[in-house]
Amino acid sequence: MAQPQKGICAEPNLHAQYLMFNVIDEDSQVIRAKLAHILDVFEHYDNEHYEAMVSGVIAIGSNYWADLYPGLIPLELAPFPDMECDDRHAPATPCDIFIQVRADRADVCFAIGSEVCELLKGHVELFEEIKGFRYLDGRDLTGFVDGTENPRGMRKFDVAVVGDSDPDFQGGSYLHIQRYRTNMDSWQRLPVKNQEDIIGRTKEDNVEYASADKADFAHTKRSSLKDADGKSIEILRQSMPYGDMSVKGLFFISLANSPKPFTLMLKSMVFGDENSTYDRLLDFTVPETGAAFFAPSLTFIKRHKDS
Ligand code: HEM
Repeated sequence: MAQPQKGICAEPNLHAQYLMFNVIDEDSQVIRAKLAHILDVFEHYDNEHYEAMVSGVIAIGSNYWADLYPGLIPLELAPFPDMECDDRHAPATPCDIFIQVRADRADVCFAIGSEVCELLKGHVELFEEIKGFRYLDGRDLTGFVDGTENPRGMRKFDVAVVGDSDPDFQGGSYLHIQRYRTNMDSWQRLPVKNQEDIIGRTKEDNVEYASADKADFAHTKRSSLKDADGKSIEILRQSMPYGDMSVKGLFFISLANSPKPFTLMLKSMVFGDENSTYDRLLDFTVPETGAAFFAPSLTFIKRHKDS
């Protein structure tokens, strides 16, 4: 099987650097070669600083894919599903290339990010960069542990990586990002019990509410979906908190073997159930960006570097 990029199923790290680029060079051959070179940069730092658990992901925007690899399109590639309902909006803010660098050392993330930018200089515009960090014991800035129900071990690969269904794109992954900005003041004014009801888990000990006690507006109720056969619909979340003393939030990342699970979950959060009961978490945290990508396998990027 084609080898997935190392960052797709990597274990959580202490630091991340997220780089969002738009391409200004029409020569796609140059970009294909540069992307393969970026994989070498990831590998170099991984070898030099093995204790830092370095990993990287290169993902190509749904709107830019056909320019970069003409004639070869992942079966389910689709634009970010812009959604709006009442005062809730999950906007689409497309982006050509997304690079995720992660490590347990901030200096290593910085060094890799700098090399990536140097390599792409003159060919792209960097329009957003965000530093992610691990907060306390893996909590989001709302104070709740994030990632508990993520698939583990080999199950991660089944959920996040394309298999035999699309042989040309085996080993790749559909990736969605959303930068959420959290209204910390209004969240913190909410009594802990109300916060817990909104998440559907206890705050301090991270215990899941019993199904009967979960409100329909709870985030874990709205995002926990089943298909027609009663099978869980799953994504692999690689989100990390970001921010400073004035702006705070979550850089949300979903990886899956199809874009459908993320789209269904977001729909359930924004539009709600048959009674229009939406995800109350969205009253406190707002997505300011949203973009859809495909992260091809290592094998694919390397194979196409000279073509
Ligand atoms: C700022 C935005 C978000 C925050 C703060 C957040 C936080 C959380 C927290 C604290 C949990 C419970 C622990 C866990 O299992 O990880 C959770 C679960 C989950 N979240 Fe989110 N989340 C956000 C956005 C999203 C989005 C946009 C999606 C998908 C479209 C999503 C999908 C899920 C799923 C699938 C679960 C597991 C549900 C279960 O099976 O119990 N989350 N999230």
